[in-house]
Amino acid sequence: MDKRAIVVGASSGIGKGLAELLVRDGYVVGITGRREALLNDLYNTAPNSYVVKSFDVDDYSNIESNLSELANQLGDVELFILSSGTGKRNPELELSYEIMTLNTNVTGFTTVINWAYKYFEKRGGGYLSAITSIAGFRGFSMSPSYSASKSFQMRYMEALRQKSRCDGNKISITDIRPGFVDTAMGNGEGAFWIAPVQKSSVQILSAVKRRKGVVYITKRWFFVALFLRLIPNAIFERVRL
Ligand SMILES: NC(=O)c1ccc[n+]([C@@H]2O[C@H](COP(=O)([O-])OP(=O)(O)OC[C@H]3O[C@@H](n4cnc5c(N)ncnc54)[C@H](OP(=O)(O)O)[C@@H]3O)[C@@H](O)[C@H]2O)c1
Repeated sequence: MDKRAIVVGASSGIGKGLAELLVRDGYVVGITGRREALLNDLYNTAPNSYVVKSFDVDDYSNIESNLSELANQLGDVELFILSSGTGKRNPELELSYEIMTLNTNVTGFTTVINWAYKYFEKRGGGYLSAITSIAGFRGFSMSPSYSASKSFQMRYMEALRQKSRCDGNKISITDIRPGFVDTAMGNGEGAFWIAPVQKSSVQILSAVKRRKGVVYITKRWFFVALFLRLIPNAIFERVRL
C-alpha cells in the first residue's frame, strides 16, 4: 500500500523539493500553500500522487479543519513536514512586517505543529518534522522577527521531542536547520554556501527517516551554528548581521 505524507508549504522552494522526492519514494503527498495555481502545477506532474489543499497558515482558526480534511482524503498519514514560513530583511523595524512574520512563523507554526503532534499521538506514532533555521541561534538586527521566530520554533520542537520521549510516544520529532538553500527566500544579500534544493531535500528526508532529533542542512552548517553560539555578546552586538 502507498505511504502517505503531508507537506505544508509545498508550492515552492524546499517544501516543493521534498514533496517531489517523497513522490519518487512512493508516497502519496498532501500539498498545501496559498498559491493554488502552483500547487495545481505540481499536482499535474503526477495526479495520482498528490492531493491539493490550499490554505493560509495565517488564518489559524481554519488550520485544524483544513489539515483534518486533507488527512481524511489521504488516509493514514505517517510523515508530516512543516515547511511554510516567511522571512525578509527588515532593518527599519516596519511593524506590519514584524507582525506578519509572527503570524506565519509563530502562531501559524504552533497551530500546524500542534495538530500534527496530536494526529500522530492518536495514530500511535509517525515522523514529524519542521524547517527552522540557523538564524534561530542569535538575534539578527537585519531580520529581528525572523531570527526570533526561528528561535521560538527550535525551542517548540525541543519541547515536543521531550514530550514525545517522556510520554512514551513513538513520534520522532526532527528539527531541520538549514543555512542557505537555493530558493526565493535563501538567495538574499549576503548569502553564501547556498545549497541546491534537491541536495537539501535528500539530506532532510534521510534525517527524518532515521528519526534524527536535529539536522543541519547542509552538514557544514553545524560548525556555523557552533560558532554563532560561541561568539560572546560583547562582540556579537558590534557586528551588523
Ligand atoms: N531558503 C533558505 O535559505 C532557508 C534557510 C533557513 C530556513 N528556511 C526555511 O525553510 C522554509 C521554506 O522556505 P523556502 O526557502 O522554501 O522559501 P519559499 O520558496 O518562499 O517557500 C515558502 C513556502 O511557505 C509557504 N507559505 C508562506 N507563508 C504562508 C502562509 N501564510 N500560508 C500558507 N503557506 C505559506 C509558501 O506558500 P504560498 O506562498 O503559496 O502560501 C511556500 O510554499 C521556511 O520556513 C524558511 O524559513 C529557508
